[in-house]
Amino acid sequence: MSVTKVYVDESPAAVAADTAEMFVRLSQQAASAGASFRVALSGGSTPRLLYGLLASETFRGDVPWGAIEFFFGDERFVPHTSKESNYKLANDELFTRLNIKSDNVFPIPTEGISPEESADRYQATLRQVFGTRDGEVPRFDLIFLGMGDEGHTASLFPHTTVLHEKERLADATYVEKLAADRITLTPVVLNAAAEVILMVTGESKAQALEQVLEGEYNPDEYPSQLLRNAQGAVTWQVDRAAAAQLKGHYIER
Ligand code: 6PG
Repeated sequence: MSVTKVYVDESPAAVAADTAEMFVRLSQQAASAGASFRVALSGGSTPRLLYGLLASETFRGDVPWGAIEFFFGDERFVPHTSKESNYKLANDELFTRLNIKSDNVFPIPTEGISPEESADRYQATLRQVFGTRDGEVPRFDLIFLGMGDEGHTASLFPHTTVLHEKERLADATYVEKLAADRITLTPVVLNAAAEVILMVTGESKAQALEQVLEGEYNPDEYPSQLLRNAQGAVTWQVDRAAAAQLKGHYIER
């Protein structure tokens, strides 16, 4: 049975700082055990604060960067030079600032191939790096996720077929409302992780967050509810604005 904790912080900056401290602790635990720390990064705007903080003088010296292997929870199907690219966000805010070796970064390929081929290649990379065979699910040490205003996470959007994918590790999905192709880790991979941290901030997330955490189980409508099936620890790092409609009592910081 997994453990889900919800922390409510004053502001997005506090969410980023508390999440950075969790990241330091988890990565140090892995490194002290002589293990690689395999993390999947999230995209969008929320994690920019976190990535910048981790690369800052406040935290950079505490993280065993050489032990960390970076993956992506999802990607917009755009060139890695596009401002929409989740890879570009991480590369600008983390990889270049910390001189992360490219051998330790596993981008989702998005150029010169179809979305389907991208998902196949990324899936093959996961199997190769994690050493898993067909039918086995790679277990990330940590997956960072965000949540959209309507409750999507990674690129698992409401009423899409990928929500029901049980075999694939990564899949291509066309998001009607964005008129955009996305590549995403599938629910089975998200739910196999040792730790999942979701960072959710802003009042625009309040309605969906209440439904995701407290509403009737309906993951087709609120895909982030799929994390109720997580095998590992799930930590919600949210700010007061996003928590405004929550009825339960959570850990205020
Ligand atoms: C993406 C993300 C996506 C994101 C949410 C929240 O590629 O956009 O992976 O799942 O986490 O859409 O985005 P914001 O942080 O911008 O609100």
